[in-house]
Amino acid sequence: MTPKPSNAMLFRAAFLSLGTTAYANPVPLDPPAETTIPKGPVGDAIRLGKLLLTDTRKQLPENVGNALNCTNCHLNAGTVAYAGPFVGLWGVFPEYRSRSANINSLQDRINDCFERSMNGKPLAYDSQEMNAMLMYMRWLSTGVPTGTEVVGRGMGKVDMKLVPNAAHGQTLYATKCASCHGDKVEASRDPAVGYIFPPLWGQDSFNIGAGMARTYTAAAFIKHNMPLGQGNTLSDQEAIDIAEYVTHQPRPAFAPAKNDWPKGGKPKDARN
Ligand code: HEC
Ligand code: HEC
Repeated sequence: MTPKPSNAMLFRAAFLSLGTTAYANPVPLDPPAETTIPKGPVGDAIRLGKLLLTDTRKQLPENVGNALNCTNCHLNAGTVAYAGPFVGLWGVFPEYRSRSANINSLQDRINDCFERSMNGKPLAYDSQEMNAMLMYMRWLSTGVPTGTEVVGRGMGKVDMKLVPNAAHGQTLYATKCASCHGDKVEASRDPAVGYIFPPLWGQDSFNIGAGMARTYTAAAFIKHNMPLGQGNTLSDQEAIDIAEYVTHQPRPAFAPAKNDWPKGGKPKDARN
């Protein structure tokens, strides 16, 4: 008889397929209350970190090359399950990643998103801004034991065996997404106020090397979180079709992605 897989086993399988380390027994995602941010220099750094993550483009124009903020994807300041929560990250980095085939520090991982998701430039590792982001993530991880991750880390999963249909995705996009994100993403920019909704493609969006440029990663995020306020209303197939359409629209290149997965394990939706 085949044993029924436990949740811990399923999680391990999910994260192994992302090329990250396996952790047993994830704990509930339970971010601390704002009122627990201490007074003084530590609290100041935590608050600065949160500001930089939520208002990234305005606060760090030298490092951001598009029109996004970190929390356009890491929703609600990094506190939402299956929307890339920052809760619990403090105790799981440094971590092996197959994309780089190396041990990555939390700083490395933050800078990966600066270079790819933000199509920008890395922060200096010893900068006040980097340390502030780390302090915020450390505070958010209060109570999560070292070597343990939270339920809902990452973007979650969709069935990678399903074959995407971009034409169907385009039709669904028009009815489910265009009301906010626009039909022609770059035309949805108002010169006076900029983008009201974050651009999903074009020169002001994430580049081809970003995790969100991968069909199944984007599909998992979309399925859990979009249309905004109506998460988990799309089927896996619908989310995959929309994701295929959206991710394959024009977006900035990222030449270094050709060096990704140097020791194998490249997922089938990788864009390089
Ligand atoms: C376009 C969407 C997007 C934006 C914008 C974005 N990220 Fe990410 N981020 C992702 C995706 C996708 C992942 C990979 C999640 C996974 O592995 O399932 C990720 C992963 C991460 C991780 C590792 C999470 C983990 O569980 O290991 C960190 C840390 C991170 N991002 C920080 C940032 C920071 C800091 C910014 C802003 C400078 C940022 N991200 C902007 C999409 C984004
Ligand atoms: C009600 C308005 C609304 C609808 C409808 C909507 N979104 Fe979003 N979407 C948002 C907002 C707002 C954000 C940024 C959230 C934040 O910053 O807290 C976002 C963020 C995103 C992001 C990450 C940021 C980026 O620019 O890449 C993706 C991807 C995305 N949406 C895809 C979709 C898809 C696909 C659909 C249709 C299934 C959809 N959205 C429908 C409002 C919406």
